[in-house]
Amino acid sequence: MKQKKTVRTGIVGAGFSATFHFEALEKVYRTNVEVVGVFAANREQAAAYAQKRGIRDFECLEALLDAVDVVHVCVPPMFHEPIAVAALARDKFVVCEKPLTGYFGDGSPDFHWDRADKRVALESALASVERILAAERKSKGRLLYAENWVHAPSIQKEREILEKTGGQILWIHGEEAHSGSHSVDYAYAARCGGGVLIGKGCHPLSAALYLKRVEGRARDGRPIRPRTVSARTHAITRLPTFRDAGHIRKDYYDIDDFSMMHVEFDDGTIATIFASDIVLGGIHNWLEVCANNHRTICNINPNTAMQTYNPREEYFKDIYVVEKIGTKQGWASTSPDEDWFTGYPQEMEAFYRTIAYGQAPESDSLLAADSISTIYSAYLSASRGGTAVEVRTFEGGPGEAAPAKAT
Ligand SMILES: NC(=O)c1ccc[n+]([C@@H]2O[C@H](COP(=O)([O-])OP(=O)(O)OC[C@H]3O[C@@H](n4cnc5c(N)ncnc54)[C@H](O)[C@@H]3O)[C@@H](O)[C@H]2O)c1
Repeated sequence: MKQKKTVRTGIVGAGFSATFHFEALEKVYRTNVEVVGVFAANREQAAAYAQKRGIRDFECLEALLDAVDVVHVCVPPMFHEPIAVAALARDKFVVCEKPLTGYFGDGSPDFHWDRADKRVALESALASVERILAAERKSKGRLLYAENWVHAPSIQKEREILEKTGGQILWIHGEEAHSGSHSVDYAYAARCGGGVLIGKGCHPLSAALYLKRVEGRARDGRPIRPRTVSARTHAITRLPTFRDAGHIRKDYYDIDDFSMMHVEFDDGTIATIFASDIVLGGIHNWLEVCANNHRTICNINPNTAMQTYNPREEYFKDIYVVEKIGTKQGWASTSPDEDWFTGYPQEMEAFYRTIAYGQAPESDSLLAADSISTIYSAYLSASRGGTAVEVRTFEGGPGEAAPAKAT
């Protein structure tokens, strides 16, 4: 076996995602990952994060960037662009959490997503995407898009099936849902970029966009891209008629909590993606591929790898069962290794093979860009009652100065 290369890593953010990024980095085996330090706006949180892991707590982003080869962007979406661009300008690699970027309001104190002009939202989000792609083209670094669904083992198995059978995907449908995020920021579109359509919908959507790329690449040497999207969004928990039984989060300010996107690809085939915050029974993350030669159901979470029956809630008080489950009593799809099924360690292994050894990434900036473009085109469609909107796609990797093109 060739000698392992060492990569110096910095983490930006010290909250939820910074925690699972660090845990996944500890499992990378083909590369020596040396986590040098962390920088986060919440200085107390950063100090505690650094101390717990024996790493340095940096006082500013620039100092962290100077000390590392790659930076993990684990901060709220509105800060992804400035941090990614600053890192790429210094020729650093960037591992960027989802969504790549977005539209975060007009700056006015009374900004409300229900009243926002979704054409402006789309144009602003695409301009942000272009700035990130331009920074990447000029950089020796690359942006790796931390869309864990791409690296979830069930999605990667479907990649193998598509590549080896040359199958044509006719319809993909999928969903990410649960009973509501705990994040305070998530209640405000100006901080999260919209609502559940972007926050959760980006996961199954990006997996669907990825698999159609894989299919096209494998069979015809050309990725299949999104062409149009039609969407509906709703704010079910903000309805005056919503009857709160105490199980579903309901204090959102202006976000959508239900969405449906229907994507038509450039070969005429389709994907239908649901995302919501109104589903009880734990997280519901799945993707089904209906192809001309096979059918696959990817149960990302829950799945039946393990099932437990617990006659009394208190027996399992110290046991993590599965994400967002409301009760631990009775039968449960207990996950023996949720991170593994979700793709967190696999994405880090893959990213560090790109950073250290130049392996082509599966989840790159162009996939992230198409995802943002589809999402904000979907918001525009929803504001027009679901009329189909053309999706602008992005082409050209780093080093190729290819401008964005409209299909
Ligand atoms: N892939 C997944 O499954 C998954 C899950 C949760 C969150 N996320 C993504 O991770 C990102 C962060 O979410 P989170 O849940 O970790 O949030 P969080 O609130 O738990 O943590 C955010 C951290 O960012 C820091 N921060 C905020 N603004 C900053 C800035 N300008 N510069 C430096 N630090 C800053 C805060 O101090 C905090 O430490 C989001 O993009 C979110 O969509 C992804």
